[in-house]
Amino acid sequence: MKVFAHRGFSGKYPENTLLAFQKAEQAGADGIEMDVHLSKDGQLMIIHDELLARTTGKEGKVSDYTSRELSSINAGKTFADSYGITPIPRFEEYCEFLQSNTMISNVEIKTDNTYYPRIEEKALEVIRHYHLEDRVIFSSFNWLSVARIKQLEKAIPCGLLYGDSSVRNIGALARTFGIEYCHPSIALVDDEMVRECREQQIGLNVWTVNTPEQIEALRHWNVAGAISNFPDMCLDVLKR
Ligand code: G3P
Ligand code: CA
Repeated sequence: MKVFAHRGFSGKYPENTLLAFQKAEQAGADGIEMDVHLSKDGQLMIIHDELLARTTGKEGKVSDYTSRELSSINAGKTFADSYGITPIPRFEEYCEFLQSNTMISNVEIKTDNTYYPRIEEKALEVIRHYHLEDRVIFSSFNWLSVARIKQLEKAIPCGLLYGDSSVRNIGALARTFGIEYCHPSIALVDDEMVRECREQQIGLNVWTVNTPEQIEALRHWNVAGAISNFPDMCLDVLKR
């Protein structure tokens, strides 16, 4: 099972920052999960919320600011512990970081509230530029974004992200559209869902796995990946 650091090592460091990504690498995580939005000038920026307030203390939306302005905003401003200035990263900076290691990456396209025109094309363009095609899984709660990525680049692995308990036969759905993974909330994982996805040969990457009991359960189900705020804890449990 692969362990992905959710928004980087966000249990201990400010989420979606280069610091949290570096700490995930040092902890031995197999991969990193992170979130992308578009700035006012159409650049990919790594941040979870559409609004800046929760992590930066600033007013407004990501799309109200240029990439240059966003790059000077401290993404760790409201984090409990201070780590100095940890700016909102550009997607390109993140890809450069990936080039310095062998980690894989789950790039979540945050089009579930605002739809950013051509965000899928832009994300793929950057991934191709940095030759990271075989180290990325794209996912989104907006399945049209996932479908668009697949339409643009059939060979890039994608995951259907969801947390809705009314979803049924997700493995069959993914297989029908040539999508390799399902990314359910851990609250939705049960024997039946694991069996259905296995029958359809669809991998499961499960979020957000923050207790030893949860990672043990996922080991029992032999899923493809666990996405955790605490990659160190997951790796410790898996070593036992
Ligand atoms: O990709 C898994 C997980 O990150 C989805 O939820 O809200 O943390 O982006 P969220
Ligand atoms: Ca995410």
